[in-house]
Amino acid sequence: MSWDSLVPRPSLVVPATGVLELDQGTTVGGEPTTADWFRQHVGAAIGLPLPDAARPTIEFRTDRTESVPGGYRAEIRPDGVEVVAHDAAGAHHAAQTLRQLLDPAAYRSAPIHYGRCLLPCGRIEDRPRFGWRGCHLDVARHFLPKREVLRFIELLAMHKLNILHLHLTDDQGWRVEVPRFPELTRVGSWRRRSMVGRGEPPEFDDRPHGGYYTVEDLREIVGHAARHHVTVVPEVDVPGHSQAAIAAYPELGTGTRPQVWDSWGVSAEILNTDPSTLEFYRAVLDHLMDVFPSQVICVGGDEVPGATPAHGRFLRSLIEHIQARGRRASGWDEILDSVDPLPPETIVAVWRDERIAIRAAGHDVVLCPERRLYFDHRQADHPDEPIPVGYLTTLEDVYAYEPSTEHVLGLQAQVWTEQLDTPRRVDYAAFPRLTAFAETAWTSDRDLPDFRRRLVEHHLPRLDALGVEYRPLGGPHPWQTRPGVAGRPR
Ligand code: ACM
Repeated sequence: MSWDSLVPRPSLVVPATGVLELDQGTTVGGEPTTADWFRQHVGAAIGLPLPDAARPTIEFRTDRTESVPGGYRAEIRPDGVEVVAHDAAGAHHAAQTLRQLLDPAAYRSAPIHYGRCLLPCGRIEDRPRFGWRGCHLDVARHFLPKREVLRFIELLAMHKLNILHLHLTDDQGWRVEVPRFPELTRVGSWRRRSMVGRGEPPEFDDRPHGGYYTVEDLREIVGHAARHHVTVVPEVDVPGHSQAAIAAYPELGTGTRPQVWDSWGVSAEILNTDPSTLEFYRAVLDHLMDVFPSQVICVGGDEVPGATPAHGRFLRSLIEHIQARGRRASGWDEILDSVDPLPPETIVAVWRDERIAIRAAGHDVVLCPERRLYFDHRQADHPDEPIPVGYLTTLEDVYAYEPSTEHVLGLQAQVWTEQLDTPRRVDYAAFPRLTAFAETAWTSDRDLPDFRRRLVEHHLPRLDALGVEYRPLGGPHPWQTRPGVAGRPR
């Protein structure tokens, strides 16, 4: 493989002549989690043991005086690779780069041929543009089995993305086990049926849908993410988007038990603001903070029909509760209106309109604009596009997205799953747009024709080797269409 195959595009590459051949004698060492990761993932694919050694062939070192957080430099010579990274995350990024420099077969889980395994000689210096390179994943509307979340984390890391914002609760499902409140998952984790598409009148299947993650599952997800230098930011959405919780414990709402919602949209069932409801959610957040080491915990706060000032105070109490435990709260941008005053440490996820970022002055902001970075929205006006909803958001639109300010923590893509009822549909919606997004979040030095060339010649073959069912650039495969299921394009 060649230096001009890398995605996201690195800051600086100086190719040199010659190659390094990896073989039975090749050793890997240095920063232990990175060396282990390289041995486990790349070693398995190329069929080499890559043991540690006192003076390893491929050495990952860290040095705080180098680069910036997440940054690294590497030099490949015929006799070895020297990586010097700012931190372990930077070392991991370097390891991901080395994997890309191998053949796409390096993305399989077992060797498929035994040709020579070569790295091109040269030097690279690379650093991220933003510290928050996020992807949100809605596992509430449609549950994604744990194994798929683990796989999704690997796909994020492959693209040098470092935040997985996990949307764990909504009107249509509660996905996180809370041992103190077993009804949340016994009742709240499944619904009797689901709306199919977005037609008028609405259509439903008659098929129960559900699932949840046990505490052990979530600890595994967090640990797997940490190995990949991905932070899992959990979201429990309040005080709206809470019908599944109210179905489990009606006293959190009006006292009348609704069903876990089977429709898409914004439910009118919202939490009440009684002291007991606040106590309930403080306990839920304590549990969340026990399971998720993330510095940031998301309280949602979006789309609350009929909200009162008491709901703003309710949200503020929960934000203060998170802060009192040494963490930071984040919320969707509606909290700028509802929580008055909004504690300054709160991170604002700006989704409705990027101009709202101006109103968020004084707060850290993550840009998640609906018109550009919502990947449930249709990616083409192709007549065969499955269940087209939302704004037209092409691969090129995502790649061209340029935030109106650099004074933000970073960017985040959103994968809402009302219309994505299987992992295959998630793959289709997310890729290759997430590849374009990753480059936008990593570097301001972008070039669309060059990106397309790297994507087509090098990166789609990597996704193929991993078995990712992305949307082909020319339109969906016949089995990726959903004839007869109405969308709702805007
Ligand atoms: C949102 O799309 N409701 C954040």
